[in-house]
Amino acid sequence: MGKYIIAGNWKMNKLPSETYDFVKEVAEATKGAECEVVCCTPYVCLAPAVEAAKGTHVKIGAENLHFEDSGAFTGEVSADMLADLGVDYVIIGHSERRAYNNETDETVNKKIVKALSKGLIPIVCVGESLEEREAGITMDLISIQIKKAFAGVPAEDAVKVVVAYEPIWAIGTGRTATDDQAEEVCCGIRHMLSDLYDEAAAKAVTIQYGGSMNAKNCAGLLAKENIDGGLIGGASLKAPDFATIVAAAK
Ligand code: 13P
Repeated sequence: MGKYIIAGNWKMNKLPSETYDFVKEVAEATKGAECEVVCCTPYVCLAPAVEAAKGTHVKIGAENLHFEDSGAFTGEVSADMLADLGVDYVIIGHSERRAYNNETDETVNKKIVKALSKGLIPIVCVGESLEEREAGITMDLISIQIKKAFAGVPAEDAVKVVVAYEPIWAIGTGRTATDDQAEEVCCGIRHMLSDLYDEAAAKAVTIQYGGSMNAKNCAGLLAKENIDGGLIGGASLKAPDFATIVAAAK
């Protein structure tokens, strides 16, 4: 449906001094990729990552940004700063930021709007906790997350947004959603986008799955109709594993 995108989310791993060589290794290992390949890195790794990605097919993303343009926000990083560095993507609303950094559906929306206005491609994370899944409210919750995330985003911008479905119970746990569980929610997200915009817009949006996706389980997930890629944590830290996932996305 949407363009295939495999994005690594390094989280708080790897040093700036390791970054250049590692991004080069990823570029080499994923040569000839039939999908977009993205490494999302900590802020301090972005400059060497962008440098290493120059002249290759690899794109670089940040893991967060602030929704204001500039000003007295100690410790924060703006969309202009990321764009100025040569960053193309930015992860917004990861469940870890929602849990530990007061990220809300409202701040997620502001960040999406800001990122789009500066030419950055947002990778917007949505997903339910185990309690929410067991209570049978997964779709209701994700519908709220999607509606609030896309509030005020016109259709011509909405098609640029990447949605990552990341069930919280599958992140870093080794407990992947089954292919069918992941497809069910990604298909649901496509329908929600169709209701918000129209079918053509919904089909154009890249919908990724994330949560313990690895070299072994990626093929089944990526073969599903509504799964257009992956947001990869742990397995993005080893170039051969990441390259196997990239190779499965075509
Ligand atoms: P893991 O692949 O380590 O489960 O992390 C997934 C994730 O949170 C990507 O954003």
